[in-house]
Amino acid sequence: MYRPSVLLLALLQGQASAHTFIWGVFVNGVDQGLFKGIRTPAYNGPPGGGGFANSPVKDLGSIDLRCNVLGDIPAPDTIKVQPGDNLTFDWKHNYRNGSDDIIDKSHHGPSLVYISPDPPAENSFVKLWHQGLYEIASFPQPGKWSTTSNLAKNGGRMSIRIPKDLKAGYYLIRAEMIALHEGDADFRKSPMRGAQFYPNCVQIEVTGDGAVELPEGVSFPGAYSHDDPGVVHNKQTAPCRTAYEIPGPTVWSGAWQETTSAPAGEITGGSTAPLWSTWIKQSVVTSATFADRASPTVVGTSTFSAQWSSTYQTPAPATKRW
Ligand SMILES: *[C@@H]1O[C@H](CO)[C@@H](O)[C@H](O)[C@H]1NC(C)=O
Ligand SMILES: *[C@@H]1O[C@H](CO)[C@@H](O)[C@H](O)[C@H]1NC(C)=O
Repeated sequence: MYRPSVLLLALLQGQASAHTFIWGVFVNGVDQGLFKGIRTPAYNGPPGGGGFANSPVKDLGSIDLRCNVLGDIPAPDTIKVQPGDNLTFDWKHNYRNGSDDIIDKSHHGPSLVYISPDPPAENSFVKLWHQGLYEIASFPQPGKWSTTSNLAKNGGRMSIRIPKDLKAGYYLIRAEMIALHEGDADFRKSPMRGAQFYPNCVQIEVTGDGAVELPEGVSFPGAYSHDDPGVVHNKQTAPCRTAYEIPGPTVWSGAWQETTSAPAGEITGGSTAPLWSTWIKQSVVTSATFADRASPTVVGTSTFSAQWSSTYQTPAPATKRW
């Protein structure tokens, strides 16, 4: 079909950690089920090495910054919502239950949510919400950051509300965490380091008779630059106790101003992700960085090339990966 053969079976040793991604979506507190509507990134390599060792996206020019690795492939299900509905994304690291750490403790950084018509086009991503450093502490304490203090402490729950009167249609929500623990380095100069981006896209269909169209937004890739102060963020010269500038545009005025806190109900479905080997037939190396911290090897740039269509792709069971 539209998917070319994905080449290269790369068996990489070691496992990059903190592969946080979305395991479920609650609509007004009701869980839609494990991985429903989610373009799950190819993160969940087997612990302990071998296989599918995708690192976070760090190359800001990579198409993987849009919806992560394999983000062009429609998930089989689309979540139906209405304007005003509250969506809660359930970010997890290793399993979808209370034992999970969501994201490594060191991974301080901002969280961001965008919306775009599906498929995205030039400048189609509009920011709905973001949160960065929200409580300042005395250096060298990190202060309170969205990823490690808000989301990780609240079970990985990230909430947004579908804009009022948003026009019916298919949209992608692009939710993201950014980890800055190695963000003092510029990835272009030190590809082993640099800020780590964890984008993840969710397919929604907005119903109803709303008339509001999204304004012009930003593109992914394109919205972020290694020159942004919030991307190359040197904790030494710009300590976390000072202001932090969240990357990307301002939040759209049409987005709800208050953050929703719809209580999430019971989780439906399992708490574990199938091993990558059950759903990925051929491994890919992406905008990867290193495989093993003990003996780091730059594994190079992407050999997986996403094939984004310019027309809406009706999800088909054939694309099912779970
Ligand atoms: C979560 O799932 C993992 C893997 O199945 C299991 O080891 C752990 O005990 C579970 N924790 C809870 C609180 O259920
Ligand atoms: C969404 O949450 C807000 C409170 O944050 C609430 O006022 C509103 O009724 C909720 N919407 C729905 C559809 O439940």
